[in-house]
Amino acid sequence: RSLKSFNTFAVDARAAYFAEAISDQAVTEAIGEARRLDVPLWILGGGSNLVLTRNVDALVLRMVNRGIRILEDDGQRVVIEAEAGEPWHPFVLRSLELGLTGLENLSLIPGTVGAAPIQNVGAYGVEIKDVFAGLTALDGQTGNLVEFDLAACKFAYRDSLFKRQAGRYVILRVRFVLRRAAALSLEYGPLRQWLQQHHIHSPTSMDVSRAVCSIRSEKLPDPRVLGNAGSFFKNPLIPQSTADALLAQYPSLVAFPQAGGQVKLAAGWLIERAGWKGYREGDVGVHRLQALVLVNYGQATGQQILQLAEKIQADILERFGVLLEIEPNVI
Ligand code: EPU
Repeated sequence: RSLKSFNTFAVDARAAYFAEAISDQAVTEAIGEARRLDVPLWILGGGSNLVLTRNVDALVLRMVNRGIRILEDDGQRVVIEAEAGEPWHPFVLRSLELGLTGLENLSLIPGTVGAAPIQNVGAYGVEIKDVFAGLTALDGQTGNLVEFDLAACKFAYRDSLFKRQAGRYVILRVRFVLRRAAALSLEYGPLRQWLQQHHIHSPTSMDVSRAVCSIRSEKLPDPRVLGNAGSFFKNPLIPQSTADALLAQYPSLVAFPQAGGQVKLAAGWLIERAGWKGYREGDVGVHRLQALVLVNYGQATGQQILQLAEKIQADILERFGVLLEIEPNVI
């Protein structure tokens, strides 16, 4: 089975076996089936954070379980649960329609609810961990249901226990704690600017969602039009002293001080400054509007995407002494 339509890079790799899970029961059956076939079980969500460099010799299980429900509501604080196969952005819109605040900054992120915790998705000043209430997973080794609370997930910047222990847990459903009335997260400068430009002075969560959708669509390519997996590299964390040395040499360097004394650099700035923005080589390239995004212009293979990424990594290391870490999962 070709996985081309199941990964947003639109890479044409094949799965040895393929199934879709609409329920917990279907996941349990797939675990058994993978054992019988003596192949690994390999979980697929929206395929939006994935680089397939070869065929997948596994039982690929695409999560398509659906359902959204409110579990607790005290009039202020609402716990909402969604099945892993729910597409992320429609789920965000649903929460907004219900009058809930918390997910608006995470509008228009591709992928599914079940995949979101794996890399602690984040955008415009909010990460999943900020609104996370818990999740239920199946342990592929024991077949048991396991509950994870915030601490157990070990969330960090674009990282979690599930990313580090890839393949062990199948996330079935995720819970978020949202509010009926709450302060919005407006720390991200361009978000505040957008609202000002549109003369929105006391924004609602819907307004923030609209702003985020607009900002995202301006710079980030729509995977249905141009294959990509969002940011291809993490923004690197470096020691303050290294950042100071770089700033002396490059005064326009974009650097954000973090808790703990480290500094986060904008990898997009480094890549653009090194001249890669808009670069194209065959069917792979660096997006012309966002240097952090690699794109597939048509028939690129995962290998070609990875080769370009490695060239960029080597160049950035040589120029700035900074190693860029690849963000999507490379198979
Ligand atoms: N920049 C450049 N040139 C570029 C791109 C960015 O100079 O080509 C500079 C910008 O001018 C800005 C800074 O870099 O000063 C940051 O850029 P931006 O706000 O676009 O965000 P980012 O650091 O490139 C991160 C996330 C995105 C998220 C945005 C907004 C990572 C790896 N990426 O990108 O997440 O949407 O912030 O919060 O942290 C993703 O993970 O797939 C993703 C899209």
